[in-house]
Amino acid sequence: MHTPDANVSHSIPRFGQTARRDAWWVSPVITFICLSAFVIYTTWAAFQGEYYYHGSYLSPLYSPEIFGDSPHSLFGPKPGWWPGWLPFSPALLILWAPGLFRLTCYYYRGAYYKAFFLDPVSCSVSESKKQYTGERSFPLILQNIHRYFLFIALGFWLFLLQDVWQALWFIDPATGEKTFGIGVGTLVLAVNVVLLGGYAFGCHSLRHVIGGMLDHLSGSPVRFRAYQCVTCFNRRHMIWAWCSLFSVGFADIYVRMCAMGIWTDWKILL
Ligand code: FES
Repeated sequence: MHTPDANVSHSIPRFGQTARRDAWWVSPVITFICLSAFVIYTTWAAFQGEYYYHGSYLSPLYSPEIFGDSPHSLFGPKPGWWPGWLPFSPALLILWAPGLFRLTCYYYRGAYYKAFFLDPVSCSVSESKKQYTGERSFPLILQNIHRYFLFIALGFWLFLLQDVWQALWFIDPATGEKTFGIGVGTLVLAVNVVLLGGYAFGCHSLRHVIGGMLDHLSGSPVRFRAYQCVTCFNRRHMIWAWCSLFSVGFADIYVRMCAMGIWTDWKILL
């Protein structure tokens, strides 16, 4: 008869212990550095409140400009009812929406849970022994608001599309007339819109919206095609997420540098 060997140790692995031999920690470290840099930069840029437009270009961090001093403002300058003690910047009125959209994104959650909270640390790496409650209890259950922020983000994307159209028109300082043309800034804003579109239209929640409430997608050819399209973007969701993150930051830097007179915006007027 087999009896358990009393000398065999069943020790609980300590935090971070793993049999993995690959550099599993590289990805979380890069995520930590990139996301931290992006959050620090965008927070500074949002509070800075200047050099966010250059002629027909508007930084994506400030679009749509609901109130503000630039010609892009939808409803004019800072409203009189704005409390004097509260810092004002057009970006502060809107950045919460795309910010929360990214924060609650399924891909980013997986990435920053590992990079910032080490929970989980990584696949096959021992984590802390506390009870795992997942996203079914407070506060992580709030991540479910992602599906609502998807629709806000898609609305913002339409404004950015409109900004690209605006960026095709250049005002002649002598006559005040608008001339059609393409500048490097136009291309920067256009690439940004494409990358943001690839990111937003590959959202997992959009797949659920399109594919939900239908037992057989094939019964609705239009929705089936839309589902396939979203699935196509979704396959590379991580790539779209990072590329669009960098492009938003770079588009702001480009407009800012031109507005400050540090960079020259090369353009062709037609
Ligand atoms: Fe990433 Fe919705 S899951 S944007």
